[in-house]
Amino acid sequence: MDQHPDYDRLQLAAKDHLWMHFTRHSTYEDSDVPIIVRGEGAYIYDAQGKRYLDGLAGLFVNQLGHGRTELAEAAAKQSATLAFHPLWSYAHPGAIELAQRVANYAPGDLNRVFFTTGGGEAVESAWKLAKQYFKMTGKPTKHKVISRAIAYHGTPQGALSITGIPGMKAPFEPLVPSTFRVPNTNFYRAPVHQDDEVAFGQWAANRIAEAIEFEGPDTVAAVFLEPVQNSGGCFPPPPGYFQRVREICDEYDVLLVSDEVICAFGRLGHMFASERYGYQPDIITCAKGITSGYAPLGAMIASERLMEPFLEGHHSFMHGYTWGGHPVATAVALANLDVFEKEHVLEHVRANQDGFRSTLERLKDLPIVGDVRGDGYFYGIELVKDKGTKETFNDAESEKLLRGFLSKALYDEGLYCRADDRGDPVVQLAPPLICDQSHFDEIEQILRVVLDKAYTLL
Ligand SMILES: Cc1ncc(COP(=O)(O)O)c(C=O)c1O
Repeated sequence: MDQHPDYDRLQLAAKDHLWMHFTRHSTYEDSDVPIIVRGEGAYIYDAQGKRYLDGLAGLFVNQLGHGRTELAEAAAKQSATLAFHPLWSYAHPGAIELAQRVANYAPGDLNRVFFTTGGGEAVESAWKLAKQYFKMTGKPTKHKVISRAIAYHGTPQGALSITGIPGMKAPFEPLVPSTFRVPNTNFYRAPVHQDDEVAFGQWAANRIAEAIEFEGPDTVAAVFLEPVQNSGGCFPPPPGYFQRVREICDEYDVLLVSDEVICAFGRLGHMFASERYGYQPDIITCAKGITSGYAPLGAMIASERLMEPFLEGHHSFMHGYTWGGHPVATAVALANLDVFEKEHVLEHVRANQDGFRSTLERLKDLPIVGDVRGDGYFYGIELVKDKGTKETFNDAESEKLLRGFLSKALYDEGLYCRADDRGDPVVQLAPPLICDQSHFDEIEQILRVVLDKAYTLL
């Protein structure tokens, strides 16, 4: 493909007018802004016609790959039929059908679906529900939230308060008070039980009980956990971790919120990741893969118990969004889930996930690769200075490695993925769920070349 006919004008306009998210604009003072113009299957193409493997499914979003005309057609059909109506005291067929379908997929009695436009809003909604629910059921002092170190839960001020990344919060302090951090499940850097994953998991889960005790059980409303924690580089839960967390939540009457904004809709080979790890949340928050990115949508899925008080008298959940459960987005989500079933997407992930893992694990022979971890189609590769000691990079080295070299080098080699240092430096991969061994090999080959070079530059 040739360069986009408007390339120069687009570059100029991007630099003059577009405020990109979480972006250091100074980076583009003397280089071009990468402009992505189209996608096809697992690949995206930039405005100069260059092809990249979409190793992050956009932003953990594009489960079915690009260019799905059935999803585009579902959006067009819905726009022509009913472009918009809110869910404020009214319903529309798409929201009704999708709520029923999502409730059917969700574990146990998670039957009540509250739509948002994205993940941060779903997290925000879950905390607000927890607070209002306890106020309505005779435990009005329960309002605090426990979450884990380095975990990302979104940018609205409540969700950001729940987020465990100090540098991301500092510019906006003071945030919503009443959130507290416990250790995550980074087994590679476990402070205790380094040789026993199960014991480490019990230790980490018990820190939640301890935090609840420290704060006072009658003040704690919820604990927010991702099934596999993204930020920090894909920390899977040790076996038994979530079972112990469930026990703790039951003991203290604290709601277990499974933040599955990334992990739901096939990323780990199941509709919901709590099913993958065998635990029952009180609330699931989700977004991203529910539409494979063909429209923006999120959801908070709550248990029957949590909706009960809202079904009586004059009560209502004092919360909502104009765009939450937008008719076009719900139509797209239904079409997306139809394709999941028709093409056996979950089965495809389950059949190929071991191949993805073992292909990435080949990179462990490189001196810079300390750990390869994750599950399903969701992996982090931790980079280290010294494999033997697990010594990590200092801030200056990390800056030079990730921003100065890796991000650009991977992109130049044709792989779109994420080099991240919100915890220790990691490269993160979450390709579209349609990917197979040929894509895994391509990812591995590009990473091998680039990571090998990165080590020699240090
Ligand atoms: C676990 C988790 N929660 C919440 C969010 C926020 O979602 P959004 O960007 O759609 O607001 C994200 C985004 O990546 C996430 O990974």
